Amino acid sequence: MYRVIERRMIVPNLHEFIVEAPAVAESVEAGNFVIVRPDEFGERTPLSVADWDREAGTVTSIFMQVGGSTAKLAALKPGDTIPTYAGPLGKETEIENFGTVLCVAGCYGIGSIYPVARALKAAGNKVHALIEARSSFLLYWEDKLEEVCESVVSLTRDGTAGYKGHIPRLDEILTLEKIKPDLIIVNGCTFVMMKASKVTQPLGIKTIVNMNPIMIDGTGMCGVCRLTVGGETKFACVDGPDFDGHAVDWEEFLKRRQTYNPEETQPLRKSGCASRHSGGR
Ligand SMILES: Cc1cc2nc3c(=O)[nH]c(=O)nc-3n(C[C@H](O)[C@H](O)[C@H](O)COP(=O)(O)OP(=O)(O)OC[C@H]3O[C@@H](n4cnc5c(N)ncnc54)[C@H](O)[C@@H]3O)c2cc1C
Ligand code: FES
Repeated sequence: MYRVIERRMIVPNLHEFIVEAPAVAESVEAGNFVIVRPDEFGERTPLSVADWDREAGTVTSIFMQVGGSTAKLAALKPGDTIPTYAGPLGKETEIENFGTVLCVAGCYGIGSIYPVARALKAAGNKVHALIEARSSFLLYWEDKLEEVCESVVSLTRDGTAGYKGHIPRLDEILTLEKIKPDLIIVNGCTFVMMKASKVTQPLGIKTIVNMNPIMIDGTGMCGVCRLTVGGETKFACVDGPDFDGHAVDWEEFLKRRQTYNPEETQPLRKSGCASRHSGGR
């Protein structure tokens, strides 16, 4: 069993989740994920790693409450125990001195991009961050990102912080902020990763996305997380989750992610929350 050290809502619907898992903390790196189960009857939920403390043996993730399993995770309290905390899984994000790197993130990705930005800075890169949300009250960890980035730029759909609008404004923001990235890394919801890749492709800027398909085992056995990248079938859990955003078949990916939407709304209907379910992000 794994002890929950912290589970608190840091902005509406997004929770910071710290678990004591010394074996994971010992070897985890930026870009890895873990698979957790809130109880013995729960589904296996993949969560990206957002931070860790090797000495204390703890690992941090940021999760969004979207359905049944994340609702169970959101009900956990410090001191509770969970039966499954498997990891580190997936390949770590490739870190080297690329020059100037822009880290783009939204939703839970603001958390998971933090260790990526930290590792990139340690490797000698000039790191900038662009964080996006519907409104300023949904942004978090600006202070942590500021510690490792040359600049942290905000983008909100209602214009309450930073630039007003959404990811299609990325090219304009690069010009206005005078950032000339050699590489862009995007973490967070599918829409943000897909739109960022579509903006950067004509600009010829290499763009890495951290894919989040439906997963079951997370070890390459079940095939559920397959996606097409550059015309080849890949398994996100073992070949990724980082892939070249310009080579991902986004249309197929979106279709596969929505496969279980009718089933996924069942637990919410039972709990009376179905009207809140958006059927994806
Ligand atoms: C490698 C990876 C890393 C991820 N990191 C994070 C993270 O750090 N924070 C975070 O909030 N979310 C993350 N996700 C997504 C998260 O796993 C799902 O939101 C979660 O499993 C939904 O479970 P649920 O029962 O609460 O919702 P459900 O009702 O089951 O589903 C709600 C939505 O989540 C999608 N989903 C359902 N099951 C999975 C699954 N096993 N894997 C991926 N998507 C699923 C569905 O397509 C649907 O759109 C990650 C996914 C992957 C694959
Ligand atoms: S989750 Fe089963 S193969 Fe990737």
